[in-house]
Amino acid sequence: MRGDGETELAESTVGSGTERAESTVGSETERAESTIGSVTEFAGSHVDSRTEPAGPEWWARAVVYQVYVRSFADSDGDGVGDLAGVRSRLGYLELLGVDAVWLSPVYPSPGVDHGYDVSDPRDVDPLFGTLDDFDGLLADARRHGIRVIIDVVPNHTSDQHEWFRAAVSAAPGSPERARYHFRGGAAPPNNWQSVFGGPAWTRVAPDDEWYLHLFAPGQPDLNWAHAEVREDLEKTLRFWCDRGVDGVRIDVAHGLAKAEGLPDDRRQPGWTVLTEDAPDPRFDQDGVHEVHRLIRGVLDRYPGRMAIGEVIVRDDARWAAYVRPDELHLAFHFGLLNCAFAADEIRECIDRTLAAAGDTPAVWTIANHDNPHPVTRYGSLERARAMALVTLALPGSAYLYNGEELGLPDVDLPDSALQDPAWRLSDGVRRGRDGCRVPLPWEGEGPGYGFTTGEPWLPMPESYGELTAADQLEDPVSTLSLYRQALELRKEHPAFRGDEVEWFGAPEGCLAFRRVGTTLVCALNTSERPVPLPPGDVLLTSAPLEANGDLPPNTAAWLA
Ligand code: NOJ
Repeated sequence: MRGDGETELAESTVGSGTERAESTVGSETERAESTIGSVTEFAGSHVDSRTEPAGPEWWARAVVYQVYVRSFADSDGDGVGDLAGVRSRLGYLELLGVDAVWLSPVYPSPGVDHGYDVSDPRDVDPLFGTLDDFDGLLADARRHGIRVIIDVVPNHTSDQHEWFRAAVSAAPGSPERARYHFRGGAAPPNNWQSVFGGPAWTRVAPDDEWYLHLFAPGQPDLNWAHAEVREDLEKTLRFWCDRGVDGVRIDVAHGLAKAEGLPDDRRQPGWTVLTEDAPDPRFDQDGVHEVHRLIRGVLDRYPGRMAIGEVIVRDDARWAAYVRPDELHLAFHFGLLNCAFAADEIRECIDRTLAAAGDTPAVWTIANHDNPHPVTRYGSLERARAMALVTLALPGSAYLYNGEELGLPDVDLPDSALQDPAWRLSDGVRRGRDGCRVPLPWEGEGPGYGFTTGEPWLPMPESYGELTAADQLEDPVSTLSLYRQALELRKEHPAFRGDEVEWFGAPEGCLAFRRVGTTLVCALNTSERPVPLPPGDVLLTSAPLEANGDLPPNTAAWLA
């Protein structure tokens, strides 16, 4: 373990023997540097470690693939992906080597926030299919050895949910309105802003009350102090667990309780939930934990099922509370997702995530439907491929976003094509999420590239024609082939069994870590010059090595 200002002797396996490297830890100079010729090399230096819990739970080390259903595969030519489309591509997912899929919401919904505005949490929208299709998908997935996690959206409903429609028709103060946050008055009840931009309060009619919506106006927030709201979530969880789902992803897990009395937000205007250093009255209130205990209570009655939370809070100790033994099994931390392509920052993110997770398995992700694709965010395909190897080498579980394995970049869509409410509500400032939601190119020609026989719901650019899954399956150096090899090694190679991470000394702009107890080393070069690799046999690299065997810039390597 790290000792402030101490000099530590650390063991590192080199070839078949064991070597000792000296490094100063806990101060500015945490990297052991040894210069050979004009380059600085990676060196063994143990500075941190963690233990992953023992246990057979499948979700602790799973690679989970997020299927954004609208954009994955369309079976009926209406341009929108559906459940039958997902079923038809399960063979691909098996070939890719994922353990589970996480399906974005397929519930009946007006689609204001593409399914995160749910009007019935216990049915399937005809746009995506039927409950029978869902059951068929579950059965087929099982045959392919793939588990299924569904999105559950407890923070809000659609404004078309029967409860909200009844509330709008009922009078102020009525029991129907008590399931949501309704308030009277000439002005909005407080200064809260919606996450999508603009006030978090909308009036149901000019002389009527205001209702709270932390997202779009079509997503009224539920009142979690209401017994019926809690009972209804239990019913929903049982409904899907009885059908056989393996887990649930809890949307806005940090938002289910609001600050008592709904006080004004006193933080600086424009501060976001992740970056501010003062409490946000909209999120991470202590009351949320009661809901997570309720969720856990239901899932515990179904062996092998799990809950993973979307948890966005500013303080790691408070984050850790969401994964206490009687709350969620896992939570997204998002450190890596928000991290630049810079070795120091990445290493800090990894340490922070591991420290926050403690005894719970860490969850790693560099992509989802709310953020630009890694290729766009990091600025190149090379960097995205390198970060894939970093992510997949870490202990814990990894969540991939559909299209990530094809190296898709975001698409710069014309304004007329944009659909995301986060864009439409942002006062003309373009910050929507449509660019990462453009459908997947499977094969052949545009406009649908095998995604649809019709017009895709978002236009697919010609450049996607060069990134089809069919072509990449044939190409041994494609991004898809890289992911396939990485997932296979992660599953089969004994070097991936190690439960702890230890850092090696690394040249500036580089990092290297080892899975303790095994020989797996992952090295990443974010600097601008090639560097010698740490010792070991190369298992996989994200790009070809230099002729002399050095690790090029923007490249990662696995060694064992
Ligand atoms: C988080 C989801 O990931 C995002 O897509 C959605 O807009 C919000 N929650 C609101 O449900």
